[in-house]
Amino acid sequence: MSRHNILVLPGDGIGPEVAREAEKVLAALSSEGFGEFEIERGLVGGAAFDGEGAPVSDATVRLAGAADAVLFGAVGGPRWDGVPYDKRPEAGLLRLRQDLGLFANLRPALCYPALAEASSLKREVVDGLDLLIVRELTGGVYFGEPKEIVTLESGERRAVDTQLYTESEIERIARVAFDLARKRRGHVASAEKRNVMKTGVLWNQTVARVHRDEFADVALEHVLADNCAMQLVRRPKQYDVIVTDNLFGDILSDVAAQLTGSLGMLPSASLGAVDPATGRRRSLYEPVHGSAPDIAGQGLANPLAMIGSLAMALRYSLDLPDAADRLDRAVSSVLAEGLRTRDIAAPGANAVGTAEMGDAVVRAFRAG
Ligand code: IPM
Ligand code: MG
Repeated sequence: MSRHNILVLPGDGIGPEVAREAEKVLAALSSEGFGEFEIERGLVGGAAFDGEGAPVSDATVRLAGAADAVLFGAVGGPRWDGVPYDKRPEAGLLRLRQDLGLFANLRPALCYPALAEASSLKREVVDGLDLLIVRELTGGVYFGEPKEIVTLESGERRAVDTQLYTESEIERIARVAFDLARKRRGHVASAEKRNVMKTGVLWNQTVARVHRDEFADVALEHVLADNCAMQLVRRPKQYDVIVTDNLFGDILSDVAAQLTGSLGMLPSASLGAVDPATGRRRSLYEPVHGSAPDIAGQGLANPLAMIGSLAMALRYSLDLPDAADRLDRAVSSVLAEGLRTRDIAAPGANAVGTAEMGDAVVRAFRAG
């Protein structure tokens, strides 16, 4: 039987609550014969700062690099507002992304028919939506140097962040997007700001070249990132795959999330390059929602983004596509039955808690 070594990093806020539900699904996967899942747990974010003095320890980074997949909850919260910038909870996540080389962030936004009413947009605009944002995750303004606040001679302070991309960084994320588009509807929209940014010019030219040389069978459209944001709320179903840089991808994926009804629904996969020797790739799976400190510890959080992230791990890291399909079906059927956590419930309707939603998915999966 196949063995899978999973590192669970619950993190802060609602992270531990939603991670617990993913672990229930892992137990169900074992008992349904999909293999043995060995679970290790570690600290990340504010929890790691409190417990180990850093938002992620070297030992945890090593464990993450060796795991078949990392399941990541969420990090951050007002409790750590005062900690030094390089020790803030988010720095733990950014270090994991960078040290593991997780350059490709896949954020699918799917609007379940049962949830079209939960979106703040009209049903006909979002019903049946199925798009994928491919966000570059280890470059751009998140990591470019210099990144600092300096005091000028006048005494005034000046802040600088650096947006920086090389051609090879753009090529490899473009290839991921085109490859995925081939397995979908064959359409890529590449979003940048070539009208004001040099990185946008290079992004545009490089994506166009990779398209021409390697993926001419896929349809490619170039769109300015601000226009893309507008189109996403105007007519989101025009998109299949959107490929974009780290910062635009962060913003556009929050917009895409809300189209589907709730940030609580959006999973993500962060993938490294495939190692030609082993065929393995490093990977981390996390819900797009954050730590939601306002509802943390109350059992109200929606675990479906975390469970959807586990489904992506089954597909992209553990080679268990049948289990992934079955888990995706379990989530659809639970939603079709009418189960809702508070974030996706109609105003005034009854909502279930985190554990109840997780239990319902496990039940549907076992029945499945
Ligand atoms: C995300 C988050 C992170 C990001 C934060 C927590 C650093 O917003 O994954 O979208 O900006 O990438
Ligand atoms: Mg974000």
